[in-house]
Formats: sequence, structure tokens, C-alpha cells
Amino acid sequence: MSNYHIKHLEEYYQVYRKSVREPENFWEEIAEEHFIWSKKWDKVLEWDFSKPEVKWFKGAKLNITENCIDRHLATRGDKTAILFEPNDPNEPAENITYKQLHIRVNQFANVLKENGIKKGDRVCIYVPMIPELAISVLACARIGAIHSVVFAGFSSTALSTRINDSDCKMVITADGSFRGKKTIDLKGIVDEALESCTCVENVLVVKRINSDIHMKEGRDKWLQPLLDKASTECKAEIMDAEDPLFILYTSGSTGMPKGMVHTTAGYMVYTAYTFKNAFQYRENDVYWCTADIGWITGHSYIVYGPLANGATTVLFEGVPSYPDFGRFWDIVEKHKINQFYTAPTAIRALAKQGTELVDKYDLSSLKVLGSVGEPINEEAWHWYNDNVGKKKSPIIDSWWQTETGGIMITPIPYVTPTKPTYATLPFIGIQPALMDENGDELKGNQVEGRLCIKFPWPSIARTIWGNHQRYKETYFSAFDNMYFTGDGALRDEVGYYRITGRVDDVIIVSGHNLGTAPIEDSINEHPAVAESAIVGFPHDVKGSALYGYVILKDAGESRNHDNLRKEINQIITEHIGPIAKLDKIQFSDGLPKTRSGKIMRRILRKIASNEMDNLGDTSTLLNPEVVQNIIDNRL
Ligand code: WT7
Repeated sequence: MSNYHIKHLEEYYQVYRKSVREPENFWEEIAEEHFIWSKKWDKVLEWDFSKPEVKWFKGAKLNITENCIDRHLATRGDKTAILFEPNDPNEPAENITYKQLHIRVNQFANVLKENGIKKGDRVCIYVPMIPELAISVLACARIGAIHSVVFAGFSSTALSTRINDSDCKMVITADGSFRGKKTIDLKGIVDEALESCTCVENVLVVKRINSDIHMKEGRDKWLQPLLDKASTECKAEIMDAEDPLFILYTSGSTGMPKGMVHTTAGYMVYTAYTFKNAFQYRENDVYWCTADIGWITGHSYIVYGPLANGATTVLFEGVPSYPDFGRFWDIVEKHKINQFYTAPTAIRALAKQGTELVDKYDLSSLKVLGSVGEPINEEAWHWYNDNVGKKKSPIIDSWWQTETGGIMITPIPYVTPTKPTYATLPFIGIQPALMDENGDELKGNQVEGRLCIKFPWPSIARTIWGNHQRYKETYFSAFDNMYFTGDGALRDEVGYYRITGRVDDVIIVSGHNLGTAPIEDSINEHPAVAESAIVGFPHDVKGSALYGYVILKDAGESRNHDNLRKEINQIITEHIGPIAKLDKIQFSDGLPKTRSGKIMRRILRKIASNEMDNLGDTSTLLNPEVVQNIIDNRL
């Protein structure tokens, strides 16, 4: 266990230096000591960012579920692997031990096989936060099928786009889901999505809300009766280190989402190692990440990272506001949570409620608080630190991305002194660089630029499903021989990093990554709309909210504007999901454009954020006159 747990800052620097000077030796030692392999690698790393191509543990053979489940059976068989906390606080929590998880994953894996799924097939998982979500993910991994989890808050159009893009043969879903007081008709959404998917042969349906749903003959099957008949043994498929483990979609600068492909060995090694160190997880701790498994945070730090360490990981079905805004704290007290990982948007929403509810519960079990998904503002940081952590649990503000697979920049709790709004130091093995607009690296401290990574780390996404060219253009073309993150960052006088936000056309709303293009494409489908542009503006709970500028066709001019606004948000909800709805919609006569016809979002962003005094030079625009008109009609 030599270099698995980092204990003090000096050790961090020591291990960090080794990980950078001899990355191959460093990761080889971790991989040797802490995982089980059917065959060891022939070569630790092979890479070329100009292609781009990255291979870790080349030639190794393994199955990630043997590392996440089987190898714990002898020593941790009766330990809780997954602790399920239902939406309704009166429904009992469920403890799934490692032994039980083994049985349930095997049964599920056998059902997949009996329904025609084999190694390499893609399976779409559209399941709410119930145990079957984690189990279906692991069941795919058990047999070498590639899972593509789609967040169960996405609309039918978003779902069908993702199913078709990766040619999924099967969809796993539920009759419906509970969300606070509401239920959501998931199966109805799947049925609608599948009207435009010919690749799907079977749909397996988990019974969760007991609703009366339509089951299509020959396609749809209830899961439970199949599980009941399935064998509890399923030999793990032996996978190559670089075989795809999963696809997870993230927004991009065009309408089509990017199916990020993560492979097996590197992803396993990195998520396990970061989990252990970034959360300082100790045996018998109870760890809770409030994210949904539909996002990368859930993949890496609810399922794979924790289970690879034999941890107890909480899976929460509900929302922070149900039955009241004390629910998170109620769960912390009830399950004696030691590590708690959530998003700034949740912290801000809870902070708005005051301190009465957070003071009502015993939070003394907490040792580490985490934040992820967007920059955490100073006020939220202090509220979290003072009222949740009682100034004794370090906050780890962890920066990373769907594409990076695991945490990249973060304090190590009790090791790295924290600083509000700073993600602080690169994690072991991570070599960040700040670049200026000319493509030169900004050396030294007290600099600000575009955040890149110079050297591959084990869990970097290897490609975009079906579109390697787009992968290259998006991440490896802005700067030579570097992975470009899309974020801006600064490095302070001691070398701490602060993420300053996206520098591309991605807007983060409540921690959800939204591309402007897909939203604009949906709006433009409204028959009365000629053109539109979306920008972000500051919002006290969501971090950023969406502001839309819409130009109407003649036919729309006479329509009631409030009705049009509702219809536009309705279209967005249908195409993407409610998370992408616009907070403000301004109808405008034109959009500021450059002479080459590109929308100048910078100006629109400033107007939406009420920063009209520094719009910069607008005289070079094709149509400078529209700017004043937009300002005059600002909402
Ligand atoms: C983008 C990635 C990583 C899991 C959740 C989001 C922003 C993420 C932080 C942070 C400032 C952050 C970045 C990044 N982001 N964490 N701690 N501080 N910004 O994954 O949906 O792929 O979004 O989220 O802008 O690029 P994602």
C-alpha cells in the first residue's frame, strides 16, 4: 500500500514529482499492487497527441467487475457495497452487500446474454437512480457490452439521438421514476424515442412505480421475472485493457452530442486511485456522492471508483428539496456519511433556505466535503464550510470533465491547504499548462490563460464514438501536442489553480454542461423563429442561466410574446430536456454579427449580464446599429 494513500503535503510533492518524471513506472506500480489482472501489460504507455492516440497498459487483460466485486468477496463479502436511499424517506433504505451485488450483477449479466447481448454490443441505460442502474452498468461490464447511460431527465428526442448515434441494440429502462412529489413516465419517453430507432431489438423494464404502461409485444420485457430465472454465476468476459468500457455523451459546439469513449484498464486504475486519495477514503467509511449515474461523476465516483476500493457508496433516488430542504442533512445523519460530494448549485439552493434545517441534524460524521461541476463562488464555499463542515471538514473543489474520466485538479483533504474558489493543485500524474492566445505556454506563477494538459493520464477519453476526426479537432487542434479542456484558468502566486470558466460555446447551468448550438437548433425549429442566439448570465442558484435572443419571422411579429416564450421553452424541453429551458427570452430585430457573419456572443453575453459599460469596440460589426436596440429592449 506504499503509495496509495497520500498523508501529508511533502509526500504529495514527492509522489507528484515521481508521477511526472517517471509516469510509466509510477502507474505501473499502482496497477501492479492494487488490481487483479488476467494478464499483465506488455507496455505501460504508448501515446501520440498528434494522431491523437493513447494506450495505457497495452496488452493487459482484465475485467473491471472482478476488480469492483469478486476480489472483495473473501474479505468484504458482508460489507455494504451500495446503500440505496429511496426518494420517499419512509421507504426503508436497502443495503446491498458485496455478496449480494455479485449475485445481482451476475443474474443481470445472464439476462443480457439471453437477450442477445454480446461483447462489444452497445446497451443504452435509461434508468432512474435505483439499484438497477448501477447493477445494469456493472452487468454490461461483466460481459463486455459497452454501456451508454443516458440521464433519465433527458427528453425522448435527446434519447433517440444518443441511441442511434451508437447503434444500441437494447434499452434498459423503468416503468417510471419518483422525483420528490412527482412521478415521471420514463417508459412513455422510451416508447416515443424508439419510434425513430430501428437498431433496438429489446427493451428491459424495471418495475419501480407500478404504473400501467404499454408493453410492446416481442420487444418489451419485464426484468424481474427474467432475473428470477437467471443463474447467479456468470463468468466475467476477459477484456483487453483498451476495449471500450462505456460511452457517455456530452454537449459540444454543434448540435450532435459527443459520445466520449472510455476504455477499461486506465479508467479503472485512475478512478480507483483518485477516489482513494481525493476523498481520503478509509475502510468502513460511508461515502455519498449526490450526482446522478447519468453523468460522469456518477460513473466514476458512485460506481467504479468506490467499488474498486471496496467502499460503501450511497445511491440516492430523490431530490434535495423533498420532503423538505433538510433531506440531504437527514441522510447524512441517518447513514453517518463520512465523505459528501455535491455540486455548487445544490449548495446555493440549500444556502438560500438559511441554517435552521442544516443545524437540526447531527452532521458530526462528516470528514470530507466535495464540490464539482462548476466554479464554486466564495459565498457558497463559506456557507458549505461553516454550516455543513463546521469549519473542520476540508472542502475539495475538484475540477474535471466527462472527457477526463477522473478528478484532475483538487486539494487532497488534510494534505493540501484549501483556498476558497481554488481547485488548488494538480492531482498526481496530471501536468496542466496555461496557454496564451498565440499558443505559447505561460510559465511561472500569477498567470492566466487557457487550460491544457500536456501529458496523457490513464483515464483520458480515447475518442468520440464514430468520429475520431471531431475528437482531434475539439481537443487536440487548438494547441500543438496538448489536450485543450475548453476552460480558462489562472495560477496564483503559490501555484494554485482557479478555474475561471468555459472559453467556448458551452454554458454550465446548475452543473449541467449545455452547448449553445443544440439549444439554438431547437428554437429555430419553431415556425415563427428566424434565428436565435443563446448566452449565459449569472444566476444566484444555477450559477449561470440561459438568456435567449430570438429574431422572429414576419409571421411571428403579431403573436403574443408570452405565448411564444412558452412554446419556445416547450420545444427545448422536447428536444433536450427541461434543464435547457431559457430563463429569459428577448425578441430582437437583429443579432450583432462580424463581417464574416458570425454572431458576436461576447456582446450578447455582456448585455445579458448587465455589463453594458464595457462592450468593447462594436464599430467593426456588420450591423453596429442593432446593439443599441438590443440594449434598449433588455429584459
Ligand atoms: C466542465 C465539465 C466533472 C464532472 C461534472 C462535470 C466545469 C467541473 C469544476 C470545478 C470549476 C468546473 C468545467 C469543465 N467544472 N468541475 N470544480 N470548478 N469548473 O462534467 O459535464 O463534462 O463538465 O464543468 O467547465 O470543463 P462535465
